[in-house]
Amino acid sequence: MFKAPRSVAVLTGAGISAESGIETFRATDGLWANHPVEEVATPEGFVRNPQKVYDFYNQRRQQLLSSDIKPNAAHTALAKFEYEFNGSFLLITQNVDNLHERAGSKNLLHMHGELLKMHCLNSRTVFNIEKDFDFDTLCQCCRTPGNLRPHVVWFGEMPLHMNEINSALESCDLFIAIGTSGNVYPASGFYQIAKTRKAHTVELNLGETESAFDTHVYGPATEVVPAYFESLLQT
Ligand code: OAD
Repeated sequence: MFKAPRSVAVLTGAGISAESGIETFRATDGLWANHPVEEVATPEGFVRNPQKVYDFYNQRRQQLLSSDIKPNAAHTALAKFEYEFNGSFLLITQNVDNLHERAGSKNLLHMHGELLKMHCLNSRTVFNIEKDFDFDTLCQCCRTPGNLRPHVVWFGEMPLHMNEINSALESCDLFIAIGTSGNVYPASGFYQIAKTRKAHTVELNLGETESAFDTHVYGPATEVVPAYFESLLQT
């Protein structure tokens, strides 16, 4: 066991929301198996067929807002840890759902955007959205149809909040990745940045990934995340 951490950075991926009923991306029946990435998650796909992209994110937003989808014990454990931990804490999520904030997490960055937001292509103004929207929806700032897109980072685009994320990775002494396959850059390299600065690196995942963390804990997020973070509070 390592000494008690003073600064903790956590990265979450789709695996933490899987037991809440939201599909992961790369499982055999995951989102990318049924919706080709290049069609629904690239700027080029949006130019080619915007309606397909609007439909994809409208469906995902409706699913997120359905009464069946709720934060699970892993989301709650992270919020509890943030509340009770004495040091500094940053939660970075690749997820576009809102389950971390619904569980009570506060110091949270959505690096891949948020399903419940859209932005104007002209002004970059970000708006909250719960209803469906598409090419015909008038933008609230420029009153022009066709100017609104999901506030989600697509392949080939720069993730959000990278300055704050890099600062946290460079100053943390414990980095923990939860439920992410490590397939998508730059999130896949976060543990290496933390390691370079001598942080202890931990992976909590259902199964093995190819990443070289110092410690691996395998099991469903709703079991391993509460147990791991409870033990961390006792160090
Ligand atoms: P993936 O679908 O690539 O990986 C999900 C990970 O969660 C896998 O490693 C699973 O083993 C693990 N997992 C599944 N169920 C779990 C459970 N119950 N408990 C713990 N772990 C579990 O999803 P991400 O790594 O999040 O980006 O994908 C990263 C990015 O790729 C996404 O943010 C998205 C996608 O393309 C964009 O859309 C830009």
